Amino acid sequence: MSSHILEAKNLYKTYNHKLKKLTVLKDVKLSIKKNEVVCIMGPSGAGKSTLLHLLGGLDSPSRGDVFIGGENIYKMRPDKLAALRNVKIGFVFQFYHLFSEFNALENVLLPAVINRDLTSRQADKKARELLSVVGLAKRLNHNPSQLSGGEQQRVVIARALINDPEILFCDEPTGNLDSETGGKILDILIRLNKEKDMTQVLVTHNKQIAQTCNRIINIKDGEII
Ligand SMILES: Nc1ncnc2c1ncn2[C@@H]1O[C@H](COP(=O)(O)OP(=O)(O)O)[C@@H](O)[C@H]1O
Ligand SMILES: [Mg+2]
Repeated sequence: MSSHILEAKNLYKTYNHKLKKLTVLKDVKLSIKKNEVVCIMGPSGAGKSTLLHLLGGLDSPSRGDVFIGGENIYKMRPDKLAALRNVKIGFVFQFYHLFSEFNALENVLLPAVINRDLTSRQADKKARELLSVVGLAKRLNHNPSQLSGGEQQRVVIARALINDPEILFCDEPTGNLDSETGGKILDILIRLNKEKDMTQVLVTHNKQIAQTCNRIINIKDGEII
């Protein structure tokens, strides 16, 4: 078996847009080792979010394969992929995707409730701890509309961590944050990588993050350059 925790082979993504074919990823290959922190950088529209979604099992490629822990994720049964996504993968989305009718604590708890590895008491304790790590111990009962953009981003990070994922995917994790809050997020990411051996794939424009990662992958017009 390959020593890589994450591999993409000859990935293509083509959208059918208004009767025209739009290829937004072309022949992307990459291999990421356990514990690596990789930054994906490139201009707006380059295909960074599309690539991250494909690597994280959230979309399906038009061609090519993605392997997580040696398993071809787009050849798995959908229920198996959903379970893998919930347990092995944490995803920090660019546009949050929090449930608006749930408060911060409930949003963070949800992946643990689905996974059912923890008792509800353990899950509740862990969710509170994570929210306090991201500085939101006093915002547990706030719904997303009652939180600032940066606070919502931190709830998303806490939610991504509740099941101790092996791989964390972040799409512009500091994109909407001031530099102080962005610095705090970066500290959290570095600590998770060191203390939990967490592999991280980060789409970012943040120079500080780019400086601390192990490797930068540049992407332009859907191709790695
Ligand atoms: N569902 C879709 N249908 C058609 N085109 C899309 C769709 N989603 C994304 N695109 C196009 O794919 C390209 C890459 O998008 P994206 O991966 O979001 O770029 P980035 O994250 O690098 O800014 C963009 O040109 C975008 O307009
Ligand atoms: Mg994007």
